[in-house]
Amino acid sequence: MSEGHAMGTMPELLIRGGTVIDRTGERRADVRVVDGTVVEVGKGLSASAGATELDAGGCAVTPGLVDLHTHLREPGREEAETVESGTRAAALGGFTAVVAMPNTDPPLDSAESVRNVFALAEGAMAQVAVAGAITVGRAGERLAPMAELAALGVRLFTDDGDGVQSAGLMLRALQYATGLGVTLGQHCEDRSLAAGGTMHEGAWSSRLGLPGMPSEAEEVMVARDIALSRATGGRVHFLHLSTAGSIDLVRRARAEGIPVTAEVAPHHFTLTDGCTSTYDPIFKVNPPLRTQSDVDAVKAALMDGTADAIATDHAPHSPELKDLPFDQAPPGMLGLETALALAITELDLTLERIVALLSWQPAVIAGLDPDHGGCQGGPIAPGAVANLCVIDPTATWTVDPKSMASRSRNTPYSGRTLTGRVRHTVLAGEPVVIDAEAQR
Ligand code: DOR
Repeated sequence: MSEGHAMGTMPELLIRGGTVIDRTGERRADVRVVDGTVVEVGKGLSASAGATELDAGGCAVTPGLVDLHTHLREPGREEAETVESGTRAAALGGFTAVVAMPNTDPPLDSAESVRNVFALAEGAMAQVAVAGAITVGRAGERLAPMAELAALGVRLFTDDGDGVQSAGLMLRALQYATGLGVTLGQHCEDRSLAAGGTMHEGAWSSRLGLPGMPSEAEEVMVARDIALSRATGGRVHFLHLSTAGSIDLVRRARAEGIPVTAEVAPHHFTLTDGCTSTYDPIFKVNPPLRTQSDVDAVKAALMDGTADAIATDHAPHSPELKDLPFDQAPPGMLGLETALALAITELDLTLERIVALLSWQPAVIAGLDPDHGGCQGGPIAPGAVANLCVIDPTATWTVDPKSMASRSRNTPYSGRTLTGRVRHTVLAGEPVVIDAEAQR
């Protein structure tokens, strides 16, 4: 796994005047960092001469955010994003780690392709973990060399962009995954129900005359994989759940103790299928934007713990493609630079709960937390690697696609004023973002 940073001697860092929020709770404290490691957490700390000081007055100092679902597009679609531009967007969004999705060209289904991404990520502005493909070429026919990839540190496997259509193959993948101690991420979409659809199937798709994808296309695969997880004991992580029915299935499975986890994406708790009314492809995404009652169910899942994580599904697309007519444009939206602010603006949750959903809970699912030998999402305490985010929860700002770090511009939130801003991001002791400006 890439460390995302070349360790060397770094100036001492003092983050002063903030409220530290991590999974152990909340306290007013300064944080002192030496050589990439937290050395002191307490009130009234002073730094040595030459130390960099970051003001955190009125801010929360939290573990760095961790995104379970980032499309970095490299190799193959560098016009849309690269590891470099994507990790810069991540850092600006407060993320110190991202899980790179394998639907690149070629896909990340071999040791060589995974090593290549790790090499590209050396010195990047966020740690890059890789999700390996479950099947060769993401074609859903035979299993990728999961053991080889797991030996390189891959902890999450998925054919994201597509679901594994064959129940038999998914069963076998889960059996392997159990032996390897890894998790399978599922993009729940039954092709026999969803094929040809370009938006949610419902009143809006009828009115607009666009072919729809029914909620059931997602829900039958959620139900199927819950059954397979129950049968094998294998861990299934449900990617970007979007329907009330899916949420309900996961809620019941968890009550039964089945080892499934779930993420939801910001666009599924902030936008509905009605946004599509002007045929603007900026609102085309997969799974599609659903109805208000689905949005309410996604929010309820974040409130009651059925959803373990907010994941961006950051899916950059170049203007040449994204500006095609609705039925031809590719699905996907930018997410890294707006996720935290959307959560703060739209969710009736404490900042501590929001950071749990964006940091330590996804870190555990990604296997990047200290309990799994990683350095993401853990408590801010002496000895911890300083992957940190300083959040101003009351600052407001207006989304401007032109000023984003991503190579692409496909945000559906252009012009929206949001509350909550990433002020500083610290990666292994290096302030990669200061006062909302990328430092390199
Ligand atoms: O909207 C989406 N875009 N959904 C996916 O599953 C894939 C992603 C992409 O890679 O563009």
